[in-house]
Amino acid sequence: MSQSNLFYEDAWPRRLDLLKWIVDGGETDRTRVINLYQREVAVPSERPLVVNGHAFASPRTPGGHSMVNPIGVLGQMFMSPFHLKGSLAAAWIGDMLAGEDFDHVCELGAGWGPNLFALHAEGLDPGIGLHGGELVPAARAMMNLLAALSPPVPLDVFPVDLSAPDISGLDIPDRSRRVLFFTAHAVEYAGDIGEAFFLHLMAEFPNMVMLHFEPIGFQIDPDSANPFVRAQAEYIRDKGGNTDLFAVIESLRKRRKIDVSYVHKDFVGVDLKNFTSILRWEPRR
Ligand SMILES: C[S@@+](CC[C@H](N)C(=O)[O-])C[C@H]1O[C@@H](n2cnc3c(N)ncnc32)[C@H](O)[C@@H]1O
Repeated sequence: MSQSNLFYEDAWPRRLDLLKWIVDGGETDRTRVINLYQREVAVPSERPLVVNGHAFASPRTPGGHSMVNPIGVLGQMFMSPFHLKGSLAAAWIGDMLAGEDFDHVCELGAGWGPNLFALHAEGLDPGIGLHGGELVPAARAMMNLLAALSPPVPLDVFPVDLSAPDISGLDIPDRSRRVLFFTAHAVEYAGDIGEAFFLHLMAEFPNMVMLHFEPIGFQIDPDSANPFVRAQAEYIRDKGGNTDLFAVIESLRKRRKIDVSYVHKDFVGVDLKNFTSILRWEPRR
């Protein structure tokens, strides 16, 4: 158990209670339940956001939230109105599936499944199996509860630990199927994971592709003078988050076990001290 995923051991059971409270109140529609849940967990902050000594103050909405939020895109900073939200992973994968065939999509470290439900709402082909793996039981309970609401989503929820080479919980009996795995700020919380899990996954699913939406800009360019990259390195190290993902991928690539198709470093930073990079790899065939 890494220091950083202790946070979720504590947070998910409380958030499961909140979700149950909303559903027990009579709500049956998943979109409404998700919006009510997100409204409750998005507590307005009194303090301006400070990154590297720069404070970003903003006028407030009637509910007390910042009216605009700083967002970084490809190294540039913009202000984004508070109502613009969305799942990067769902949008990216939805775009990718328009031009590439997969039999299954599986998120590892899926939390309560926001990316998976967003992907489904984008119009995911019903022939594509949807799977959500997660370490913490309360988060898996949230996924199951939300999947059963209206309209129901056929979602296979299973236990997985990114630091242990075991994918036996995943219900895809035909291991030759083409499976798109992805992680979104989940390896970040798993601490250093080494390569055992990935070697196991490749052995089990030879036709897999992996996408990472992870904060690894500081790992890709550790000597960067960019203040955002330095802030990220400090933030991740302070919380005991992952520091080895990019080194593991580079080592597998150099040993010709995998091919890396693209790395989009620091693509977007909703949290300015924790930009998301996108990386795609697959077993060398
Ligand atoms: C920041 S949340 C991201 C959740 C989801 N991917 C999303 O984008 O909303 C990180 C998730 O990783 C999970 N996690 C932490 N360590 C893990 C591990 N070793 N194996 C699998 N999941 C893990 C946490 O329980 C949590 O649900």
